[in-house]
Amino acid sequence: MSSTERKKKKIRLLFVCLGNICRSPAAEGVMATVVEKYGLQDLIEVDSAGTSGWHEGELPDERIRIHGERRGYVFDSPARKFRDSDFKDFDYIFVMDRQNLSNILSLATDKEQTNKIHLMTEYLQQYVHDHIPDPYYGEASGFELVLDLLEDACEGILQTIKKKHHSELT
Ligand code: 4NP
Repeated sequence: MSSTERKKKKIRLLFVCLGNICRSPAAEGVMATVVEKYGLQDLIEVDSAGTSGWHEGELPDERIRIHGERRGYVFDSPARKFRDSDFKDFDYIFVMDRQNLSNILSLATDKEQTNKIHLMTEYLQQYVHDHIPDPYYGEASGFELVLDLLEDACEGILQTIKKKHHSELT
């Protein structure tokens, strides 16, 4: 089979926050848009999950949906809790803050799983921030900040993946 005939394995990205109703579904939606912008939708897949199952099955919080819509995004991924099989199913797991980081790290059972976990803010290119702040109990400006940071970090993730997986993506 030639390389052009071979079916390429998708690179799978999972975004994780606490409730999976504000930050991580927004990260999923922003990343899906960035992936489409680069024409890589057949090669990169995105999903999101929460470290808690408090909002299981709910649509993203209305506030993040409204702020997202103003920027042209549709955030409609129902909430689910992170599960052990996510370590097998995803190549990269991006967490929003250090609490998410320690929760997911505590579930990892080997080095391969641990190595998949990354802090979202490591990929910021324009902003300097050490976590994506939880907007849930805050004001509208918090939701705008989340989107500003996610747009910046998602672009950074795409550039990193393009470099690292150059042969798989071309
Ligand atoms: P998220 O925000 O982790 O960005 O989805 C939150 C959503 C819900 C709650 C906390 C944070 N909560 O306490 O229910």
